[in-house]
Amino acid sequence: MQLFDVYPLNDVTIVKGRGSYVWDDKDRKYLDMYGGHAVISIGHTHPHYVQRIKDQLDKIGFYSNSIKIPIQQQLADKLGQVSGKNDYQLFLCNSGAEANENALKLASFHTGRKKVVAFQKSFHGRTSLAVAATDNPGIVAPVNETDNISFLPFNNVETLEKYFAENGKETAAVIVEGIQGVGGINVATDEFLQAIRSLCDEYGAVYIADGVQCGYGRSGKFFSHDHAGVQADIYSMAKGMGNGFPVGGILIAPNIKPKHGMLGTTFGGNHLACAAALAVLEVMEQDNLMQHVAETGAYLVAQLKDLGCLQNIRGRGLMIGFDVPEEMKTLKKDLLSKHFVFTGEAKPNVIRLLPALNIRKEDIDVFINAVKSEMAVAAS
Ligand SMILES: Cc1ncc(COP(=O)(O)O)c(C=O)c1O
Repeated sequence: MQLFDVYPLNDVTIVKGRGSYVWDDKDRKYLDMYGGHAVISIGHTHPHYVQRIKDQLDKIGFYSNSIKIPIQQQLADKLGQVSGKNDYQLFLCNSGAEANENALKLASFHTGRKKVVAFQKSFHGRTSLAVAATDNPGIVAPVNETDNISFLPFNNVETLEKYFAENGKETAAVIVEGIQGVGGINVATDEFLQAIRSLCDEYGAVYIADGVQCGYGRSGKFFSHDHAGVQADIYSMAKGMGNGFPVGGILIAPNIKPKHGMLGTTFGGNHLACAAALAVLEVMEQDNLMQHVAETGAYLVAQLKDLGCLQNIRGRGLMIGFDVPEEMKTLKKDLLSKHFVFTGEAKPNVIRLLPALNIRKEDIDVFINAVKSEMAVAAS
């Protein structure tokens, strides 16, 4: 049987990982500045993470959500403590798209309304509502098309106010990434997020903070929306939550009330996923990773700026993007094939850096030296 060929692949087979490094089947070592797509939060095969999953697997891996699963409550408690959102409620699922799907659905149940505001260059996932709220017609199937979603310009308060003045009373939710990832590392301004908060309050709409990529400590605060000093009604999470184990979830404000059967999933919140997610939070807490992210992120940005050749260096914490100049347009490919460094990208010319939250300064130096060497090639 063939694999369904939907991914353009690099010709690399990774067989082993430790911290911010991975090795291929020829034992070549690569620096991972991509975090396996913003997923690796506490580093590959962190010993505490591996042990916690093994211990859980020895006890029980899965039983359905029809019985009590105390490790779900342990995860909720730890998540409340580390994120500072103790009074929120937790619903667990398996991926980022599923988290946003449930967030949007819940907002519609809660308000009894259908309209949703999303933003230009947004990415919220590939399932039905999540993809409908994603600004990329190329991945929206005809069956996902809906008039319920309006795409407004990102960081434009005036257009948002105008939209609400006309449609606010029918609007269920605004869904927004605090830092757009797939869209090219675009940071939402504090003013914009504050305007979303106050318009949602005024018109009774639900503020959904998509924290799938920019959340879970990556920005230097637990949710990137925290930088603006606002509280969203629902936060979606996935990627870094399980350090590679598939787990996602939403944090739900206390005023949104649950009803039996309203949301549900077979696998969400299973014992193994909770063990993985708890291990991540324990390491984040123990190693004070959010502070580490703020410091190493500032170091990375300073080093990138010092290079002098990269344009529009932007982002927060360890979610950094820059524009690649025309004379270095093969940089991403060269970093991988010549220097064995993985990076992310956003079309047409953005490199996205999404390393593990515990990357060390010396690993960042390896990356910077690789870029320097490509600058020298471009200048020669
Ligand atoms: C901001 C954001 N939301 C949602 C998703 C979808 O997550 P998943 O691929 O786990 O469904 C992504 C994935 O890249 C994302 O970046």
